[in-house]
Amino acid sequence: MSNLETSRGNWGSKFGFIIAAAGSAIGLGNIWRFPYVAGENGGAAFVLIYIIFVVLIGLPVMIAELAIGRNTEKNPVGAFKKLFPQSLWKAIGGLGVITGIGILSFYAVIAGYTVGYFIKIILGDFSAVESAAQSGQIFAAFTANPYISIGLLLVFIILTVLVVMGGVSAGIERWSKILMPLLFLLLIILAIYSITLEGASKGLSFYLKPDLSKITLTTFARALGQALFSLSLGMGTMITYGSYISKRDNLVTSAAYVCFFDTLIAILAGLVIFPALFAMGMDPAGGPGLVFVVLPSIFAKMPGGMIFGAGIFLLLAVAALTSTISLLEVPVAYFVDEHGWSRKKAVVSMGAITFIIGIPSALALGANHFFSTFIKENFGFLDFMNALFGNYSLSIGAFFIAIFAGYKWGVNAISREIQEQGSVFYFRPIWAFLIRFICPIAIFVILAYIAWTGNYF
Ligand code: PHE
Repeated sequence: MSNLETSRGNWGSKFGFIIAAAGSAIGLGNIWRFPYVAGENGGAAFVLIYIIFVVLIGLPVMIAELAIGRNTEKNPVGAFKKLFPQSLWKAIGGLGVITGIGILSFYAVIAGYTVGYFIKIILGDFSAVESAAQSGQIFAAFTANPYISIGLLLVFIILTVLVVMGGVSAGIERWSKILMPLLFLLLIILAIYSITLEGASKGLSFYLKPDLSKITLTTFARALGQALFSLSLGMGTMITYGSYISKRDNLVTSAAYVCFFDTLIAILAGLVIFPALFAMGMDPAGGPGLVFVVLPSIFAKMPGGMIFGAGIFLLLAVAALTSTISLLEVPVAYFVDEHGWSRKKAVVSMGAITFIIGIPSALALGANHFFSTFIKENFGFLDFMNALFGNYSLSIGAFFIAIFAGYKWGVNAISREIQEQGSVFYFRPIWAFLIRFICPIAIFVILAYIAWTGNYF
């Protein structure tokens, strides 16, 4: 990513791009958000629809975003403007810029909690945990402290700002190559441990045996939002990252790798959480606190658990950082490219704005009554921002990106971009069918249903 802060160059190698894009995709979306959303929406039935959406909607939209980005070499607003200067399409880029700030504002709160949990584990705060209920109380007390929540939010924003400002992003790329496989390895070990706990089988069947009667249109809506969120799609992150890929790389295979690894990590996170959760007799619909309650209860029992625990939360913080970088990069690239701001000015001002917008989310898990019950009981400001930007805004963005790719700029233009320098566009007719018909129709039906029923949250 060293090129992000200098001129527009290319990623070091094909592998460099895949690592950076996977770094954006893999994060709290996989390990924090996926398990609790799956738990709230029927378990295995949700997982099934989720995987279908990754393949039928996520992959084609990712290919479209990467092609738009590489062709235009621009931020999302600049990209639409360059292709169709007089049109309104740039508004979709503008929505992406706002969405980036919106998501980052609450994402950094949760990312801050992972840093906090890393410190708490080292301090031995969980060594006496005997039950999930106790672990739940620790989490509640932790998030109810406004100074800690806001302080950790600030810490995480500063970390992100420092990386995006320049200097260390090449290092992050290098570290990611070691740390991400390590995260994968720790998750595998934890999943094996979790599956072998007594009473785990109920969790396995909840997570892996679909009960199709649990599927409603709301399940589809949540699965769509989760797939786009987890793959960093619908707000131009992949347009921005695509603007740095070399013409030699095959966009289709790169996108397929990113989708595959992202989904693998999410599925694995569920294999850690659900067997243990059922073994401890907890409610799978526990909401955003789920992993913060379940993981420490696992570590408390496991031999060497605290070392594992510290490792997992540290790696989770790193995974979150490679995602927050990509979230901040979208508004920063916009202000640098379109308004001629210096990189430093753009990064610092966007970081400051995000911090301020993030404060209500930091107070929304118990620190402040108003923000904690912003929409209803157990659905506070953080959940509100998460649904608004993390589901709906991304869905609207993905809808228009599909229309743009399928009809406005067109299948032929995208194919030409993909076939640059002799790359083969595998499955072109299938892609064209998905981006022109399946993606827009499915997203439209889901959004129309949500708007019609008013069942937003
Ligand atoms: N995909 C990231 C994650 O799963 C979050 C993200 C969403 C990043 C949208 C960029 C854009 O953690």
